[in-house]
Amino acid sequence: MNILLLGSGGREHALAWKLAQSRLLADAGDTLYAAPGNPGIADHADCIPLDAADHDAVVGFCRASHIGLVVIGPEAPLVDGLADSLRAAGVPVFGPSREAAQLEGSKGFTKDLCERAGIPTARYVRCHSLEEAWGALKRFDAPFVLKADGLAAGKGVVIAETREEAQHALDDMFGGRFGSAGSEVVIEQFLTGEEASFFALTDGETIVPFGTAQDHKRVGEGDTGPNTGGMGAYSPAPVLDEKLQRAVMERIVEPTVRTLREEGMPYSGVLYAGLMLTADGPSLIEYNARFGDPECQVLMMRLESDLGELMLACAQGRLGEVAAPRFSDEAALTVVMAGKGYPGTPEKGGTIDLESAEAEGAKVFHAGTKRAEDGGLAANGGRVLNVTATGANVTVARAGAYAAVDAVIFESGFCRRDIGWREIERERG
Ligand code: AMP
Ligand code: GLY
Repeated sequence: MNILLLGSGGREHALAWKLAQSRLLADAGDTLYAAPGNPGIADHADCIPLDAADHDAVVGFCRASHIGLVVIGPEAPLVDGLADSLRAAGVPVFGPSREAAQLEGSKGFTKDLCERAGIPTARYVRCHSLEEAWGALKRFDAPFVLKADGLAAGKGVVIAETREEAQHALDDMFGGRFGSAGSEVVIEQFLTGEEASFFALTDGETIVPFGTAQDHKRVGEGDTGPNTGGMGAYSPAPVLDEKLQRAVMERIVEPTVRTLREEGMPYSGVLYAGLMLTADGPSLIEYNARFGDPECQVLMMRLESDLGELMLACAQGRLGEVAAPRFSDEAALTVVMAGKGYPGTPEKGGTIDLESAEAEGAKVFHAGTKRAEDGGLAANGGRVLNVTATGANVTVARAGAYAAVDAVIFESGFCRRDIGWREIERERG
């Protein structure tokens, strides 16, 4: 069949690489399309200019090109209801409806759902005005956790050490710093513990675990400095052992999917739970309605099952009929190379040469690259490359990834040198 993948980052490059190996694309003439794609994705897919915000154009393309499955990579088109438009046109789609994607699109929606379903999460108050928020602050102690309700590209959370700092941040949020995403703010209790990510696939009824990962959100070594979309990740996350994973499924993921189904907004696609492993057990920090970036890259390196078949089964409500996903026991680790200046204004246009890095046996996913006029590669974004390797454990995978990083030629780029440090300390014993 023909498949259309929407997106242009490292996550989508990893999905394209894995989808290209699917039996769904085995017949002559089967085509993987990507819109808009990137130079790395172009190795596996026909890249086409198609605007995911233009639902009629996407539906029209799917009809004209006999698309049998659409995979929506990023959150914005999901929150915008693209999956609904495609389903209404009879096109199978991997990704939740607009209503179900509120799990990512509205922090307040998710907190209320947790309350209704008895899911462990930090105590919270939803605030619709600055006055209300200043008042609600009195019910919390430092550090204060303030979250813009809507999508803010991973930048909508402020952790304020003092009440004054929290008040300033609230002024900013209600003053429009995050646009309409900040017209409502959630204030919540600060949780302590280690963070980890848990993934599940669901068709709304059947739910299957889909791996674990840990990422590094801060730009600087030792997890310091401003937040980013993620500077590196590894999978699995051994802190989420079997017992904890079962607890996450039973106490968090299953009640979420069940409640959404019972309330008439069934969730279909991948559910990404950001967790805090507290002394009282796993607590939900946030949900995402799509794969993590760069967590997806390390999951795809370990996935042994046919990604296309799993996604199609989710889209068609047949997840219970296919074999459960299988992952390699090996660890995978990815290092993000970003343009100097990221997460502020990154330098763009710097030349990149990957030839020797790929000879090291690593997989380099393109996150923000473009073809230069001379046919070479150039940087074209904040996060530019995801240099990814596997190994018997995180220590070995990390050695492979950094050997390849050292072979990448990208002078206007930088990366953290300590991805995986927590796990490597544990492996060292
Ligand atoms: P989020 O966008 O909700 O994932 O939040 C971004 C980051 O803020 C998380 O990865 C955590 O490091 C931190 N964070 C969010 N909520 C809390 C909380 N209630 N307690 C402590 N840290 C939090
Ligand atoms: N790496 C974090 C995210 O994708 O949300």
